Formats: sequence, C-alpha cells, structure tokens
Amino acid sequence: MLASSSSTAISLHPLANYNASATPSLNPSSLSFSSSYSYLSPLSFRLHSSKTHLRITPKKGLRVSCSTNEPLKVMISGAPASGKGTQCELIVQKFGLVHISTGDLLRAEISSGTEIGNKAKEFMNSGRLVPDEIVTAMVTVRLSRQDAKEKGWLLDGYPRSFAQAQSLEELNIRPDIYIVLDVPDEILIDRCVGRRLDPVTGKIYHLKNFPPESEEIKARLVTRADDTEEKVKSRLEIYKQNAAAISSTYSSITNKIDGNRPKEIIFKDIDSLLSQLLKDKTAKSVKPVLQTENCLDQASSNEEKWRGIPTRLNNIPHSREIRNYFYDDVLQATQRAVNDGRTRLKVEINIPELNPEMDVYRIGTLMELVRVIALSFADDGKRVKVCVQGSMGEGALAGMPLQLAGTRKILEFMDWGNYGAMGTFIKIGSIGAKEVDEEDDMFILVAPQNAVGNCIIDDLRAMTDAAGKRPVILINPRLKDLPGSSGIMQTMGRDKRLEYAASFESCYFFRLLYYAGTQYPIMGAIRMTYPYDYELYKRVDEPSGKEKYVSLSTFKERPTIDEINDAFLGKPRNKDKKASGIWGFLSGVF
Ligand code: AP5
Repeated sequence: MLASSSSTAISLHPLANYNASATPSLNPSSLSFSSSYSYLSPLSFRLHSSKTHLRITPKKGLRVSCSTNEPLKVMISGAPASGKGTQCELIVQKFGLVHISTGDLLRAEISSGTEIGNKAKEFMNSGRLVPDEIVTAMVTVRLSRQDAKEKGWLLDGYPRSFAQAQSLEELNIRPDIYIVLDVPDEILIDRCVGRRLDPVTGKIYHLKNFPPESEEIKARLVTRADDTEEKVKSRLEIYKQNAAAISSTYSSITNKIDGNRPKEIIFKDIDSLLSQLLKDKTAKSVKPVLQTENCLDQASSNEEKWRGIPTRLNNIPHSREIRNYFYDDVLQATQRAVNDGRTRLKVEINIPELNPEMDVYRIGTLMELVRVIALSFADDGKRVKVCVQGSMGEGALAGMPLQLAGTRKILEFMDWGNYGAMGTFIKIGSIGAKEVDEEDDMFILVAPQNAVGNCIIDDLRAMTDAAGKRPVILINPRLKDLPGSSGIMQTMGRDKRLEYAASFESCYFFRLLYYAGTQYPIMGAIRMTYPYDYELYKRVDEPSGKEKYVSLSTFKERPTIDEINDAFLGKPRNKDKKASGIWGFLSGVF
C-alpha cells in the first residue's frame, strides 16, 4: 500500500512496480527519500539515544530527559489486502504517527532504481518475501530517525518473519500494541484484484468498494504488479506460514480485529484501542513530566548560582545534576575542538567521582561521560570506536590498572539506547594499531595509562599513527612514568614517551584545588574549555552557610603553581615569585 500524501510518513515515488493504466507524472520531490535512505549509506542518518541525559539541550537529538514521555509505537499486521494500508491512512490522520510501510519503502527503492530496489524487485514481483537483511536494515534506520522518535511510529508490513521479529527484539524495539486484521481468504483475493492506487495522492481505492471520486482520478489510477490472483495466492500462503511465529513474539500485546467490516467501523475499534493506550501512557508520564520541569528549573537556577562551577562538589555521590553539568561541559568543549579540526585531544577532569586517587571514585561516572560523548558524535553520523586498554604484560606480570578493571564489560553491557547505535555507529575496542578500521571516524580512549611495569604509550602511538587525521580523544589519560616492577623508573625512551604524551592538546581541563597533601577542604578550581582560557576560581564560604566560586583570574596557558599562589594571595602578575608550594597538589599534574 502507499502512504497517503497527507501522512507524515514519507514521500514516495509511487510509480514503482505498477502497471499503469494511465501515464502518471513523476513527482521529483518524492525521489529524495529513497536516495537519502539507502541502507548502503547509513551514515547519512542520525542516531539518537532515548536514554541520554543532558543538563540542557546543547544539540539536536540528545535532549534533556529527566523523564521519558514516549509516543505511541504501533505495529499493524494482516494478510495481503486485509486493509492495513487503508487503516494506516486513518491512524496517521488521527494520531500523527510516522507511517513506516516496508512495502512502500521497497517500492520507492525500486522506482529510484537503487541497488536495494533492483534486488527487491524480483522477489516482490513473484510475491515472495524480500531477504531479511535488506528489509531489516531499512526499517531500523528509518526507526532511528528523529521524526519517528518524536511522533511515534506505525510499522506496517514488518516484521514478516520470525527472524525479522527477533531482529527487533534484539534491538529492544517493541511496539505498545500489535494489531492483526483478520479477513477471510476469498475476500482478500477480490480486494487485491480490485485494488487501484492514485499515484498523485497515494490514496488506496477499490474498483467496487471504494471507487475513485472523479473520472480524472480514475484515469490516473495504477495497479500493483503483485496484485494478480496468482501472486496474491502465493503472498497469502507465505503470510500464513509466518503469521504464527511472529504472533508468538507479541502474544501479550496482540489485538485481533475483524477486518471484514466497513473501514470506518474497523477504524472505530482501532481508534478506541489506541486512544486508551495513549491515555495510559500519559497517565504514567504525568509525574515524570513534572519532574522534567523541576529538573530544568532547578538546573537553570543552579546554573545561575554556580556561576560556572557547581557547588557542593564534596557531597558524594555527586547529584545527577552535577554530573550532567560536567558531561555537558566536556561534551561541548570536545565538540568545538573536533569541529575545529583538532585531532589529538585530551580531556582531564578530576571531580571526586572521577578522581582515582579518591576512595569515592566511580567507574560508572567515567562510563557515563564516555557514553554521552560517544553518542553525541554518533548522533552526528560519525562511527565512534570506544577503546579501553586490554590486559598488559605477560605471565605473572599480566594485569591491568585497577581503575580500568571490568571497564570493557561495563561498556559492552551498558545501555546505549534503543535504536542500534551500538555495533553500528559505536563499537568497543582496545588500544592498538590493529583496532583502527577503515570505517572508524574517530576514537575515544578511556583512561589510557601506564601500569606498574608496563607502558601503554607504544600501543597508543601505533594507534594514533594508524588513525592518521581522524580524531583521537583521550579521557583522563595518565601517561606519566611509573616505576617498573623492580621499583625502578623506566628511563629508556622516556623523553620520547613524554613528548608524545604532551602532543595531545587539552580540550577540557577541570581540577579541584586543595592544600598540599590534603583532599579537604576544596580551596578552588581551574577550568578550561576549548578554545577558551584557563579560569582560576576560589571557593568562598558565605555567611549563610552556602558556598560559591569566585573567579580570580584567567590564563592563556595552564597556570603554574606560583601563578595560582599569587592569584590566591592577591599579588599582581609578574611580581617576583616565591615558591611557597602550598598548592603542592599540582606537582603530579604539571
Ligand atoms: P506490502 O505492500 O506490505 O503488501 P501486503 O502486506 O501484501 O499488503 P497490501 O499492501 O497488499 O494490502 P493492505 O493490507 O495494505 O491492504 P489495503 O489497505 O491496500 O508488501 C508488498 C511486498 O513487499 C511483499 O509481498 C514482499 O515481497 C515485500 N515486503 C514488504 N514487507 C516485507 C518484509 N517485512 N519482509 C520481506 N518482504 C517484504 O487494502 C487492499 C484493498 O482492499 C484496497 O483496494 C482497499 O481499498 C480495499 N479495502 C481495504 N479495507 C477494506 C474494507 N474494510 N472493506 C472493503 N474493502 C477494503
């Protein structure tokens, strides 16, 4: 069936694979859909994670989601000519869902003469199913588009086999309801043979049941190539072979509807089912929606209060609001740097939950930060490889830094969103040249670090060489020298290693300042977000018991210990410095 032109579904080239009873005119605008839809070029699509949480709305796709108010997700099934397309027109009119019909998508590919279309044609013309991999790729890509995520979707003609149903299950794509239109066989054949389509409006007619409104329309109607009695019988047979296996996947949400009644009556049933579902969903989401507003209000009011640095950073665990502040801060700086063509970047952030020196260090916070960055670039159509170093060394010396233990598994099991970003736009790898594949667009390396007795830098260097001009972003690297297992510093090649480590440009830097040798109280903070200067803040306790961060100074380069001391002591710049060393916390960093 064709999508109605009034639907929000898709613009189709309607002439594919039809025996025209008149010579219809091409609608050039309709061709755009097919070309941007080829599953051979999936990079042209944006992926979105419904689970990504950000403080504000920095960019499309990754939106604040303190709650999820999900739109309707509907599947409609039934034998050929059971009236799916007819009902879909009515559903779209009333509920505004995005209509995704695999039959329409395939016909559009055929009419545009794409590779997919050429492959699909022989199957469709003989009334057989098109191979799963072609259809599944088309459907998942289409479902990942923003309109489907925002307005909800109406999936028509998919899944049509058990394997297709399983593919959706694996991607965690599940409808709220599975509608099956039930019509006796003999009626189906008559409906198919009498079906006609209007290539201009996309409307479905039937010579007897729903004749066209005017002679003009009648003259331009077309017949589908697979609407002969013989082919309908074959399609019906295939439908029956698969129907039971598919229904078993959705048995708990199946609603069978008698489709052998006037279309308005059938729609009445569907309408009441969907309206009830919508009501239930809205009721469920009322509370979270209010939370969303509160979250946003609070976030923006706190943002005012924070003046650049969130307060209460010693409160552990950090609130989601604070974590989101930093995820967003890092994300925006990283994006600016990558958009400016920078390719060797590092992010260094040591809030307590991300500071492995502290016992409140949380690997989950590091993983969330990585996920936000990776999904955001994937959202821009980039293929991102997230890499964690594997176990280093051999035999008794084998091991990996404690900070990274289990990281890879966590990354693999993390929730990367519903629509298949993981495995397509996001891949997990380790550190080394062999991890660099041609299709990768960029690399995010999670806390690469030297371990006692093992140096990661050679692997890292080989990897960046293989990556060439593609961005490599290090998140909280620790590339300073560590003693070997014998307790002696590795000196061979040390200069080169340090030079290489320094070749990564900071795109984000955040460090809390403490008195030397302590981790309490917080005295201040340094923050740098690409391409701006380093900002130095002092933490001040207010009489009300609250705290705030006061900006002391800015620096083009990362300030030295002396410069920080002077700023805290209120000394003017460039005055003779005395290395008091109270900010000795920096010694390991600079
Ligand atoms: P597709 O286009 O999906 O065809 P289909 O499922 O066979 O369904 P139809 O479009 O024929 O019928 P419909 O149920 O939409 O009925 P309609 O509303 O038009 O798929 C075509 C081909 O693509 C497949 O054979 C396959 O090769 C391939 N394909 C698609 N998806 C695939 C997948 N997932 N995997 C592999 N291959 C895939 O109504 C029919 C007629 O009845 C109309 O004339 C209408 O006016 C009339 N009518 C409708 N309702 C009523 C009513 N209540 N009373 C009287 N007449 C009515």
